[in-house]
Amino acid sequence: MTHTHQRTLVTTALPYANGPVHLGHLAGVYLPADIYVRYKRLCGHDVIHIGGSDEHGVPITITADKEGISPQDVVDRYHTMNADAFAKCGISFDYYGRTSGPVHHETAREFFSEIEKKGIFVKKTEKQFFDPKAGRFLSDRYITGTCPVCKTPGANGDQCEQCGTHLSPTELIDPKSKLSDATPELRETLHWYFPLGRYQKQLEAFVERHTGDWRSNVVNYSRTWLNQGLADRAITRDLAWGISLPLDSEEAKGKVLYVWFDAVLGYISFTKEWAEKQGDAEAWKRYWQDPETRIINFIGKDNVVFHTLMFPAILMAWNEGRSEGRYELADNVPASEFMNFEGRKFSKSRNYAVYLGEFLERFPADTLRYSIAMNYPENKDTDFSWSDFQNRTNGELADTLGNFIKRSIDFTNARFGGEVPWDVPDYFLKNMDVILAHDTEIDGDQIFPVLPIDEIAILESLIDEIGHAYEGFHFREAVSKTMDIARRANKFLTQGEPWKKIKTDPELAGKMMAVSLNFCNTLSILFYPIIPETCNKIRSMLGCQTIEELRKGLKSDESIWDMAKIPSLRKGHKLLGSSEILFSKIEDKDIEPEMKKIEALLAEAEQREAAETPAPMTFKPEITFDDFQKIDLRVARVIACEQVKKANKLLKLQLRVGSEQRQVLSGIAQHFTPEQMVGKNVVLVANLADRTMRGELSQGMILAVEGADGRLFLLEPQGEGINGNSVS
Ligand code: MF3
Ligand code: ZN
Repeated sequence: MTHTHQRTLVTTALPYANGPVHLGHLAGVYLPADIYVRYKRLCGHDVIHIGGSDEHGVPITITADKEGISPQDVVDRYHTMNADAFAKCGISFDYYGRTSGPVHHETAREFFSEIEKKGIFVKKTEKQFFDPKAGRFLSDRYITGTCPVCKTPGANGDQCEQCGTHLSPTELIDPKSKLSDATPELRETLHWYFPLGRYQKQLEAFVERHTGDWRSNVVNYSRTWLNQGLADRAITRDLAWGISLPLDSEEAKGKVLYVWFDAVLGYISFTKEWAEKQGDAEAWKRYWQDPETRIINFIGKDNVVFHTLMFPAILMAWNEGRSEGRYELADNVPASEFMNFEGRKFSKSRNYAVYLGEFLERFPADTLRYSIAMNYPENKDTDFSWSDFQNRTNGELADTLGNFIKRSIDFTNARFGGEVPWDVPDYFLKNMDVILAHDTEIDGDQIFPVLPIDEIAILESLIDEIGHAYEGFHFREAVSKTMDIARRANKFLTQGEPWKKIKTDPELAGKMMAVSLNFCNTLSILFYPIIPETCNKIRSMLGCQTIEELRKGLKSDESIWDMAKIPSLRKGHKLLGSSEILFSKIEDKDIEPEMKKIEALLAEAEQREAAETPAPMTFKPEITFDDFQKIDLRVARVIACEQVKKANKLLKLQLRVGSEQRQVLSGIAQHFTPEQMVGKNVVLVANLADRTMRGELSQGMILAVEGADGRLFLLEPQGEGINGNSVS
């Protein structure tokens, strides 16, 4: 694989310093970014990871008021807590900044001034509630009153928690200021608006340009906004906490930048601070103002339009009319879906969450990193659970990876004096399948004639596949392919049985151990993006430098990743001489208290929900009756069904539709067995264009609906003589 030595800037959404980060945040944003960055560093690419705390905004002042402390106290607490939790989890930021810091204030004000100077902002006067006692304008969240819909007192200015209705504060009955209890008065106030519409065309082109390479959720959210036509967005607020406007005028008094205008610029400010720390104050420009640099913003799906429309528009406004000091736009914005926990969405406000810091007090970071990476919500929401965590730790990390490493090292220590007993030929790992297929010799050496060939594929191409998966942000694929290599290595050792062969053919046993030890080395590199601490432990047992030490000794573009493809532990290389257990198993009793806690949280959540009306529905854009008529829905009967080989989600169905037979592939194998399907009536979309999946033809699709906890229900029409009839 040829690597391009591109420069890459990775940013991660700045978590609000208003609470601890939870496992959902980790899964969607910080862990995938860290894995990506660690992979890039292994490849010898120039990459930095910039993140930090988002320390402004109304929720922070509300927390401060509630606890009777200052907003600064609030952000100090959570900034430290989150930075510590990330460090403990091995999230290797190159810089973790704070938006309350001076460099950021200066940067955000510079952006505001530049755009103000160009006359791009629109100023609008509006009527807003003012607290005459506190002498301040009130943001929506600072007003409370009786809900006009359900008549419950204590509704917020933006929403009634009781009935869920979105409100504007002027709709409240008997409004009161939360600051002083005074009755607020409507007064005129002036706000600065950013005219997003001015960049409509440029933003459309930007999204269009990336339609092939961005995830479809990112393109779709952005398009939905673009299609509605971009409106002016207020970028100032009347608030005491935040970045004050860089204007002396009376009208700018008491106003701060809206947190979203401020926060996204944090990426830039923190890169400046990073550069300063490197002793090269200008270095940030290489990352932001050089078209050769790839900028990647890792975010959750709730932040998409801020990163594909708002932030780019701010940069476009800055760039307007400039030939120098122009900012580059993102190359990719890998937005995750959500990872749920035990079937429910994490929600801080609903007190349903597992916090990162607390989790790591009980379990090692690497077990969490691995399990979460395997549940990365790339294209759809995923579900993580305590039992999943237990199974992956015990079955995959401990029994497969840990066991393989320990047996390789222990047996070498016991029987070969702790030294690599053989020089594995360079091309061995690359061509293992070929060697084994010919099952006799390389360079006159008799090699393992006993091993099943298909157990060991071509390692080099597997490693390249993993690299491609990382480059494409397909983290689950990369991680599970990495575990596949460990599985093959483990099988190699188990089936080769060097502990038996040593009695009859000690030389062959030695060769096997040399191969196994080189597999250990390979795995210590390949797993490094995912479980870095464990990999360095493996390397220390192997008598090798840590990855970081190795990196220091290399030229900037030399690839450690490529070293995983060659057997670099030569004959005579000395191991450390002892081994340790890499992963201890998680017993039921270890997770029982956690499961109990979750049950209690779930019960609470259910009670709360029972007391509430459901969230408002959102429907797809309107279609005409004629549009609907184009879809030909038919009742069909499943007459045969089988699992599609090597596709664990797909079932292949044979359907009887009146006088015709159809073959349909359906991604329902995790919900129904082939036996359950046969004999069912289903609803078939009968005029859908044919598709081929996994080399199999699919002539239509069948209808199903998702229920609670991701359970799937088929539409199964009941009735006599309905086969082949149209559903209308
Ligand atoms: N604090 C915001 C959130 O957690 C994310 C901010 S991303 C940023 O949703 F780029 F704006 F900082
Ligand atoms: Zn209400």
